[in-house]
Amino acid sequence: MTAIAAVILGAGMGTRMKSRKPKVLHQIAGRAMVSHLLATVNELNAEKNIVVVAPGMDDVRAEVDPAEIAIQDKALGTGHAVAAALPSLQGFEGDVLVLYGDTPLITRETLENMIETRRRDTNTAVVVLGFEPEDPMEYGRLITNEKGDLEAIVEFADADAVQKAVGLCNSGVMAIDGAKIQSLIDEIGNDNAKGEYYLTDIVEIARKKDLPCKVVKGDEEELLGVNNRIQLAEAEAIAQKRWRKDAMEKGATLIDPASVFFSHDTKLGQDVIIEPNVFFGPGVTIGNDVRIKANSHLEGTTIGDTAQIGPFARLRPGAKIADDVKIGNFVEVKKADLEKGAKVSHLSYIGDARIGAEANIGAGTITCNYDGYDKFKTDIGAGAFVGSNTALVAPVSIADGAIIGAGSTVTKNVEQDALMVERADEVQKSGWAARFRAMKAKLKNK
Ligand code: UD1
Ligand code: MG
Repeated sequence: MTAIAAVILGAGMGTRMKSRKPKVLHQIAGRAMVSHLLATVNELNAEKNIVVVAPGMDDVRAEVDPAEIAIQDKALGTGHAVAAALPSLQGFEGDVLVLYGDTPLITRETLENMIETRRRDTNTAVVVLGFEPEDPMEYGRLITNEKGDLEAIVEFADADAVQKAVGLCNSGVMAIDGAKIQSLIDEIGNDNAKGEYYLTDIVEIARKKDLPCKVVKGDEEELLGVNNRIQLAEAEAIAQKRWRKDAMEKGATLIDPASVFFSHDTKLGQDVIIEPNVFFGPGVTIGNDVRIKANSHLEGTTIGDTAQIGPFARLRPGAKIADDVKIGNFVEVKKADLEKGAKVSHLSYIGDARIGAEANIGAGTITCNYDGYDKFKTDIGAGAFVGSNTALVAPVSIADGAIIGAGSTVTKNVEQDALMVERADEVQKSGWAARFRAMKAKLKNK
């Protein structure tokens, strides 16, 4: 099988994003657009991945590591950007896939279809991915002949009225014969409305050499180009629709799919039930038979089987929730191990902690993990019972089976099976309330 190299263009300034960071780093479902593309080309086992960036885009370099980087000194157009990648493709004779960093939703199936089309007739120099959007906007137009083969791509800025009326548009994605790419790119000029080196010109150049060019049609939803924040939100919506469908197909129940937001890497077990208004940040893995109740926010968290989370739970990075654990409403957990069957049912903060198996943490318990400078750990043993409104001042440990009386502030370690209670003595004055009310009533009636 012939090899594939992917060239992802990301050197454009993305001015329409009105952002201080490069466009391709803007995220969809918690992952940079450029990384979505890299993940997709990785599924094709591309032999080379080259990302074209502008000088100084070190954050893009870090994001795409270990992909190869090519620097385009000045953003002189998409053809000029591909030229910057050519030195890395010296001697490569397979198929070169050119992808735009701002078109992140393209699927593996579509790319495979393009590669197949390119290989069907070895003469085919270029395969372009076209689509027929409802509103063709300012996309380049694909000019085809009576056989449906491609003759030229005309940029919107250069198109006449007849060409603008063409509904078949350029998505920007191309499969190019690696043996011919150099000679095609070499001939691109910049005599056009924008004075740029358009990659799209290689179609006409190939046709002049009598080399066939083809169109593969794709679906509008996967070819949306993100040029501004409105399109970024549209791309997010499309991605979320995909993830929701995928989650349901794999055996999760989403009571109101439209209100559940996934990250690109959310992993769900079987028979997980997700109630409305749940948000998954990156790094969440959930076991089987788990229920995530309404209005919960989860990130960087693993959850075992048959756990119950929420409603209104907040699970932050490093929360490890074992099987059968119950996390109730208004509970925040960060960097903490909750062992099998532990319960934190109401209004608590558990951070930098271990909660042993079957321990019960009462309402309003707070692990005081931070002294303004450093973080400290709270360790709670199996079967311990922490009464409501307890402050656990870390570092502190409560051994297995101990009981902490409600309202305590715990600063010293508590031994196994002990009762620890920290509270002022209670004072009770018989009849005091009745006397107080009588006195007040008398004063009022005067
Ligand atoms: C491009 C196509 C247009 C197509 C549209 C699809 C050209 C000339 N036009 O237009 O036919 O319909 O995409 O979305 O190719 N980039 C560089 N270096 C540059 C210029 C751009 O790396 O000098 C990168 C950008 O970062 C971006 C991609 O190439 O990821 C596309 O550039 P953009 O300016 O968005 O092109 P469009 O005007 O959208
Ligand atoms: Mg664009």
